Amino acid sequence: MSKNAVLVTGASRGIGRAVALRFARDGHPVVGTYRRDEAAAMSLKEAIEEAGGACEMVVADQLEPESLAASVERVRERFGRLSAFVANAASTAFLPLMDTKLHQMDKTWNVTAKSLLYGAQLCAPLLEGVGGEPGGSIVAISGIDSQQVLPFHGLLGACKAAMEVLVRYLAVELSGRRIRVNAVNPGFLDTDSSRFYMKDRFEEVVRWTAQVTPVGRMGTPEDMAEVVRFLCAPESGYITGQTLTVDGGLQCAAFAAVSSGA
Ligand SMILES: NC(=O)c1ccc[n+]([C@@H]2O[C@H](COP(=O)([O-])OP(=O)(O)OC[C@H]3O[C@@H](n4cnc5c(N)ncnc54)[C@H](OP(=O)(O)O)[C@@H]3O)[C@@H](O)[C@H]2O)c1
Repeated sequence: MSKNAVLVTGASRGIGRAVALRFARDGHPVVGTYRRDEAAAMSLKEAIEEAGGACEMVVADQLEPESLAASVERVRERFGRLSAFVANAASTAFLPLMDTKLHQMDKTWNVTAKSLLYGAQLCAPLLEGVGGEPGGSIVAISGIDSQQVLPFHGLLGACKAAMEVLVRYLAVELSGRRIRVNAVNPGFLDTDSSRFYMKDRFEEVVRWTAQVTPVGRMGTPEDMAEVVRFLCAPESGYITGQTLTVDGGLQCAAFAAVSSGA
């Protein structure tokens, strides 16, 4: 029997790409969104199709969350139903809160929390359980900045925290439709956005993270993809409304490392 599709926002690069590839490996058709990196988007589509899977890539700039409607429509037209909606894409202006302009506040809210909520509204009819069967899952990608203060991350951290609250409320509101809703909160990963944010300090941060993280290395997009897949699988059927921190233990150990001068 053919598997239901998954919709992954920001699928062209980083975590979203790894999530798309992981679901495709399990035989799910993928509909991925991206903003402007056409080459990266097409290389994902080719990789999935060469391996025998199905993939559609749709431009959707979440600065305008309404743009998600076209990708959900694509799922409905070509694949019918969804196993998962993964709300992954994010972008922000990294600034001190006191320097943040009104339009930047609106944009970061739109691309994160508003897109999760609007995406959930659009996807719920394709995710809900039919005939008493469990439905699909929604997974939001949060960030360490929702829990820890990072320089210039105040706006994004606040919006990620709002996503985690929405996850709890959506899990309750969508329970009657048998849709589970969870979030993954990654630590530091090697992706384009991390390199952009840390600039010439990136290699130093990689070394420090490997040194202080209990599992002894920086995380990868593939680490996150495995957890997202688990949160959408029947094996996690008793988990909903949760934010799972997946950081190799970094947050447990970071304060101890700073205290001991590591
Ligand atoms: N990297 C980390 O260490 C880390 C840690 C914690 C949380 N996270 C979270 O993980 C998620 C993915 O991060 P990443 O590091 O994997 O990012 P990334 O490698 O920089 O990739 C970003 C993806 O999101 C898309 N995107 C960016 N802005 C968008 C917009 N306005 N509308 C639609 N799509 C947009 C990009 O599309 P284009 O390719 O077209 O630009 C790309 O597919 C984010 O929510 C981030 O906050 C990351």
